Amino acid sequence: MCGIVGIVGRRSVAAQVTEALQRLEYRGYDSAGIATLENGRLERRRAEGKLVNLQLKLLQSPLSGAIGIGHTRWATHGRPNETNAHPHATERLAVVHNGIIENFRQLKAELQAHGIRFDTETDTEVVAQAVSYAMAQGLGPVEAVAATLPRLRGAFALGFLFAGESDLLIGARHGAPLAIGFGEGETYLGSDALALAPFTDAITYLEEGDWAILTREGAEIRDITGEVVTRPRQIIAAQSYRVDKGNHRYFMAKEIHEQPEVVGRTLAHYVDLAEDCVVLPVALPFDFAKLSRLTITACGTAYYAGLIAKYWFEKLARIPVEIDVASEARYREAPLDKDGVTLVISQSGETADTLASMRYAKAQGQHTIGIVNVATSTIAREASALLPTLAGVEIGVASTKAFSCQLTVLLCLAIAAGRARGTLSVVDERRLVDALITVPGLMAEALRQEQEIEQLAREIAKAKNVLYLGRGTAYPMALEGALKLKEISYIHAEGYAAGELKHGPIALIDETVPVIMIAPHDAVFEKTVSNMQEVAARGGRIILVTDAKAMALTEMETMATLTMPDLEPTIAPIVYAIPLQLLAYHTAVVMGKDVDQPRNLAKSVTVE
Ligand code: AGP
Repeated sequence: MCGIVGIVGRRSVAAQVTEALQRLEYRGYDSAGIATLENGRLERRRAEGKLVNLQLKLLQSPLSGAIGIGHTRWATHGRPNETNAHPHATERLAVVHNGIIENFRQLKAELQAHGIRFDTETDTEVVAQAVSYAMAQGLGPVEAVAATLPRLRGAFALGFLFAGESDLLIGARHGAPLAIGFGEGETYLGSDALALAPFTDAITYLEEGDWAILTREGAEIRDITGEVVTRPRQIIAAQSYRVDKGNHRYFMAKEIHEQPEVVGRTLAHYVDLAEDCVVLPVALPFDFAKLSRLTITACGTAYYAGLIAKYWFEKLARIPVEIDVASEARYREAPLDKDGVTLVISQSGETADTLASMRYAKAQGQHTIGIVNVATSTIAREASALLPTLAGVEIGVASTKAFSCQLTVLLCLAIAAGRARGTLSVVDERRLVDALITVPGLMAEALRQEQEIEQLAREIAKAKNVLYLGRGTAYPMALEGALKLKEISYIHAEGYAAGELKHGPIALIDETVPVIMIAPHDAVFEKTVSNMQEVAARGGRIILVTDAKAMALTEMETMATLTMPDLEPTIAPIVYAIPLQLLAYHTAVVMGKDVDQPRNLAKSVTVE
C-alpha cells in the first residue's frame, strides 16, 4: 500500500508535503518522492528507502513552488529504487499512485506502438504517459484525465500535477481511498484524513469511481460518469485519526470497502506482478512435494476460508486436505504425521481454540503455518512460519476484509503447492495469477451493487429464517454468508450444500424463507440451476448471486438477482464475498442493530 498527498497552497509546499508523507509512512516506505511547480516547470526529488532520505535530499537541493504532490511507496511493480520511485513524470505532468493497474502491460504496448519510451518498470509510469499522450492529442489536463481513467483496470488512487498549471491538482479514486481537505485558500489531497491532520479537519472522502479537480478555491467532484456530485464534508476530530470510519457509519462498512485495496496489497506481497507468478514472502520449512496430506484448523469465518482452500489445494495441488473447527481439533487427538503441515488461519491470532489446536499439532511434530492478520499475535509468534494477511486493523466484529485477504493468501499458497508438486504448469500458474490480479478491480465493481443490495436488505430484514445454498467453493461461501447475516442481524440463517437440499432442508422452503443461491458460472452451475428449480417449484423466494455469463443461461424467476462481473471461477469466492457481506451489513442496519459490536460476541474469542 502506498501513501499519496497533494497540496494546492499559498506558499512553498515542500515542507507540508513531507510532513504529510511522514504521517503516511505506515502505508509503505520503500521509497519516497515529491514534485512541485517552480515557475510553471515540474521539479522532482525522489529517494530510495525511508522518507528521511528524501528529506536529506531536499535539504541539499530544496524545492520551492506553492503546489505539489508527494508519495511514499510500498513496491508492487518494479524494484524499490529511485528510478521506480513516484512521482512518475513526463514533461507535461507528474503522477502519484496507490494500488495496482492490472492492464498496464496492454496500455504500455499501445503507447510504445506510438513511439513512446518508458524509463521504469512501474505500472504508474503508464498512467503518466497515457495522460500525457492524450494531452499531446490536444486535450487539456482535465479532459486528458477524463479520457484516461476509464481505460485503467484495477484498484487504485491517483494524484496528478501539471506543468504550467499552478492552480490545479486532480485526484481519482477507484478501489483505494482518497480524501480531500479544505483549508484557508488551500486545498489538499491525501490517502486518508491522518495525512491531512496537520492542515485541516474539514475532510471529504471520495467515493468509489469519483475523481476531483482541486484549486485553491476548493474542489469539484465528479462521479465515474463525469457528473458533478456532492460528497459529505465532515470535521474529523483529531483523536479519531488512528482509525476513523471515513464516510462510513460503521467500521464494518469501511472495512468492506477497503477490500479492493487491502486484497491488492496482500496480493502484491505474494505474487510477482510483472512475471505473473507466485513468490511467497517467506521460505517454508517443508517441501510440499513430500507431503501426503495437509491439515487446516481455524474457527468461524477463518474456518470457512479454510474450507474453500480445501477445494483449491485438492484441485490444484492434488493434496488431500483434512480440516476441522479448532474447538473440535484440539480435543479429537487426530493422528498427525511427524513433519506434516497444519495451516492455522486466524484474523486476531489470539483465538483460544485455534491456538490450542496449533499447539496440539506442534506437539505431534507438525510444521505449523500461521495465516494471520495481526503479525504480533501469539499464533503469529508461535507458528513455524508466518504468511501474513495485510488487511490492516479490522475493528468490526464481523470479519470481512481479513476473510478476503485470507482467501488471497490461501489461493497463492495452493498455487505454490501445485507448482512444487508438479501438478500445476507454468501456464496454469500464469492463468491463475492473472485471474488473481483482476480481483481488486472486480471487487471494486462488485461494490457498485451496494444500492441494489441495500434495497434487497429491506426484504431480508422481514424474514425469520434465511437459507444460503452453493456448490463447490460456493458451499463454504454459503456457510460464510449465513454466518455474516446471523451474527449481526440475529436472523436465523443456515448455509447448505445445494445438493443436500433434497435430503431434508427442502422441507423448510416456503414463501417466507428467502433462499440465497450463490452460483457463479462454474463447472457445477447447471446442477445449481436444478436446485433453484426445486426451490422455485415450492414457492421459495430465490435471491440469485451470479454473473452475466450464467444469467444468459437461466430464465429463473427470482426475487432478485445480483449480477457479479464475469470471472475465472477459481477466484469467485473472493469476489462473491462482497455481496454476501453487504447484504448482511445492510440488513443489520435496517434492523437497527449494533453492527460493529453485535450482542454476545467479541472480536477475538480468547477463551474456550
Ligand atoms: C466472523 O465474522 C466472526 N467474528 C468469528 O466467527 C471469527 O471469524 C472467529 O471467532 C475466528 O476469529 P479469528 O479469525 O480471529 O481467529
